[in-house]
Amino acid sequence: MSFAPSRSLGAPSSAASKGSLGYRVMYRLGITPWEGQPMPPVLTALVEGPDALPPGRALDLGCGTGNHAIYLARHDWQVTGVDFTPRALDRARQKAANAGVTPDFMLGDVSQLGVLDLTPGYALLLDLGCFHGLDDLARDRYVAGVNDLAAPNACMVLFAFQPGGRGPAPRGISEEELTRRFSGWAVKHRQALATEELTGIARRAAPAFYLLQREASS
Ligand SMILES: C[S@@+](CC[C@H](N)C(=O)[O-])C[C@H]1O[C@@H](n2cnc3c(N)ncnc32)[C@H](O)[C@@H]1O
Repeated sequence: MSFAPSRSLGAPSSAASKGSLGYRVMYRLGITPWEGQPMPPVLTALVEGPDALPPGRALDLGCGTGNHAIYLARHDWQVTGVDFTPRALDRARQKAANAGVTPDFMLGDVSQLGVLDLTPGYALLLDLGCFHGLDDLARDRYVAGVNDLAAPNACMVLFAFQPGGRGPAPRGISEEELTRRFSGWAVKHRQALATEELTGIARRAAPAFYLLQREASS
């Protein structure tokens, strides 16, 4: 089966290249411990819960092999997924084709969203394990890009480790830094994962899901 070639307007910045190589190696070796996790309850509540959002446009930043984008597309969302690892996107397209859905998977750097020619007005944004690995400059650029693209009142679901992990763990982000960086957004909900549910580096990293909502006036 052949798949559409990657759109490559957003080639990784030099700052992102080191991380990009690490992820390339991990995907090549099949070391992807973030795969195979259940859908985050904070996301299923937004999509299927009693107060679910009406399906609209969603942006999955660091979409990996597309599990969350495919889930949203199956629930009638029009989804764009961005990732800088070509192998992950190839797999995402394959999985979407198998599922009979058509999210748009784009090769690009989440800290350079401006070059991707995306149309502003996303009602839902996801970041499940990408933002917490970025350096400070990339975080600045990422948030600026998100603010250009998110609709007023947009929701964002984010999964992040706490800082202070050792070894190969992403650097993480505290709730204080998240709140400061996403000024104009309110943290509506935080759900820490129970340590006994976790293995490996995640166990020491105290990860949490966050639901952010953009304030209409920002
Ligand atoms: C921990 S994985 C999570 C993947 C996916 N969100 C999931 O939950 O299955 C982080 C993903 O972010 C991507 N990524 C990290 N930094 C990125 C950047 N600067 N630009 C684009 N993608 C990035 C990696 O290639 C990887 O697929």
